[in-house]
Amino acid sequence: MDKTRLRIAIQKSGRLSKECQQLLKGCGVKLNLREQRLIAHAENMPIDLLLVRDDDIPGLVMDGVVDLGVVGENVLEETLMDRQAQGEAADYSVLKRLDFGGCRLSLAVADDFDYQGPQSLEGKRIATSYPWLLKRFMDEQGVKFKSVMLNGSVEVAPRAGVADAICDLVSTGATLEANGLVEADVIFRSKAVLIQSGNALPAGKQQIVDKLLPRIQGLQQARE
Ligand code: PRP
Ligand code: ZN
Ligand code: MG
Repeated sequence: MDKTRLRIAIQKSGRLSKECQQLLKGCGVKLNLREQRLIAHAENMPIDLLLVRDDDIPGLVMDGVVDLGVVGENVLEETLMDRQAQGEAADYSVLKRLDFGGCRLSLAVADDFDYQGPQSLEGKRIATSYPWLLKRFMDEQGVKFKSVMLNGSVEVAPRAGVADAICDLVSTGATLEANGLVEADVIFRSKAVLIQSGNALPAGKQQIVDKLLPRIQGLQQARE
């Protein structure tokens, strides 16, 4: 890979991917996205896109593997807490909070569960992909619980007998409903953010960032 080109990591497939591609397109970046390609080169600007799992984006930015990344605040905050716990560096800055990717991290229980507040989950098993955000909330509430870490299909855990409740992202609520679950408490509200690695960028790359930012600003204002 050409080190002089600005590297941006975006989600390969998922709720943020279309919006991210649209955002770049709106900024005048001409992309040549081919199926199954993990790297895409912009045709008209020195920009390379890395298409990866959203969960990997904060780490790639914090390690300086890429210069910029677009990711949900939920994933960002979870990675941050995990890195802090491991004593790993987490150097980055938020360039812009974006106007898409809105969702909430919520506790949810089976529709026949008698939920009277977080204390109803005392001693229960909660399945989640966000153990640190969940722990922070439950610590604040003074409720002890058992964390069941699942990277996907969290919503099937109660039916599968793997957990008594879940803590997962809710956007439209369709996933919860399809699985006989109801939202019990919101523990974190999230939107997509554009983040930059902590290392100062070489002048050429910084110029590109300085060009992109006002364009993003303009796009968001036009949408308001
Ligand atoms: C989240 C969550 C649910 C879905 C909820 O996944 O894990 O699967 O979105 O959305 P809904 O309320 O509109 O049904 P996400 O899109 O973040 O993908 P990932 O878990 O694969 O990262
Ligand atoms: Zn994910
Ligand atoms: Mg999911």
